[in-house]
Amino acid sequence: MTKLAIHGGEKTVNLAGPVWPRLSDEDVEVGKAALEAAKTDGSYLCAAGGGGPMEVFEQHFLAYQGAQYGFALGAGGHALHVACMVAAGPGEEILCSPYSWGQTAGAILEANAIPVYVDIDPDTLNLDPRKIEDKITDQTRAIMVVHIYGNPADIKAIMAIAEKYNLYVIEDCAQANGATIDGQRVGTFGHFGCYSWGSGKNMSAGEGGFLVTKTEDLYLQAALCGLHPGRHGKMVAGTPYEKYVDSLIYTYRPHPLACVLGDNQLKRLDEMNAWRRANADHFSEGLADIPGVKPVQVREGAEHVYHMYCATYVPEELGGLPREKFTAALGAEGLGAWVYVGTPIYLRPRHQEHKFFFGKGCPWECPFAARKYEYKKGDCPVAEHRADVDLVVGAFGAMVEDYRPLVDQYLMAIRKVAEHADELMAD
Ligand SMILES: Cc1ncc(COP(=O)(O)O)c(C=O)c1O
Repeated sequence: MTKLAIHGGEKTVNLAGPVWPRLSDEDVEVGKAALEAAKTDGSYLCAAGGGGPMEVFEQHFLAYQGAQYGFALGAGGHALHVACMVAAGPGEEILCSPYSWGQTAGAILEANAIPVYVDIDPDTLNLDPRKIEDKITDQTRAIMVVHIYGNPADIKAIMAIAEKYNLYVIEDCAQANGATIDGQRVGTFGHFGCYSWGSGKNMSAGEGGFLVTKTEDLYLQAALCGLHPGRHGKMVAGTPYEKYVDSLIYTYRPHPLACVLGDNQLKRLDEMNAWRRANADHFSEGLADIPGVKPVQVREGAEHVYHMYCATYVPEELGGLPREKFTAALGAEGLGAWVYVGTPIYLRPRHQEHKFFFGKGCPWECPFAARKYEYKKGDCPVAEHRADVDLVVGAFGAMVEDYRPLVDQYLMAIRKVAEHADELMAD
């Protein structure tokens, strides 16, 4: 049998990995042209009034998503915050997954609303619709759904619940730009779709975000929160919101030059996502006969865009080998593997101590809070269990060309480590 790299043997993964973010030659060309244009056209440097390259990008992005209303923002977090501000007020509740990047829930807290956590589906790791209704109270205003890792949640079932209880649905698509369910883009099912085109995301121009809304009314309310009065003034003219035109806003607009890059990257988002999927599918197929690592599950009709590949570690298939020993051996073979959500959001200190940045314990201690909020171990057992079995592997989010030879090396590395499980147990 071959010798493990961690024991001095040869490393399995020796092909170069992909880099991310990545600019194409065409990105560089359009970037240079935009800088040149900025010498005489202010809309390349000033986003306050809208228009210019930002508007071009917005129109393309909306058409790509199949959405009617929306605008670009400086970050995905901006879109989430604005959506939460429109959807709920102080002391009101938004249901949310505890298994996400913190900002999914952070946006709820920024609106001084209260996150109420619902457990996740063990297969897709997204909000479990079967667990939602139990958590709805007369304070619930919205359901925040994250499509984690780029894997679409069961949004149709969630929309049916939201309609029954008259709740808003906010989709956090920061990791899922371009993902679809039955051919429809995520972010267009709910009332709000929030996207990121920040540096690590599936389409990137350095930093950026986008909000789409289902109705014009939500769009106007969101614009009043996050856009400059020079722009939102034009949008709400002649509507009942006109009197609220004001500079009491968040400065959430993006840089127009980033929009130029975003617009160019959008053209190849589908192609990049198709390669991510091809490489990841190849990996999932290869995992089928390797013990210890269970491939990701994708719902029927859904198209995952593999911002990350999160598998499940199954120590029972490897004689109980602790994950840390497994990942250390894999790392030595040249394959990085890590845990993305080590601790569910509600078990972290800000929630446990009711200290979200400053103040006096708000939103939990806000006079508008209807009850006492406690977050404790056992609240969402499936999410808590992920801390023990998550196995995010490789660089799938950056694989926007054919990387199957590298993926084959990943598989060889995993197989090799699995075959040496007994030996590693004895270490
Ligand atoms: C699930 C999720 N939501 C929101 C965000 C925030 O996006 P941004 O960094 O563009 O603000 C991220 C960023 O990593 C994310 O992964």
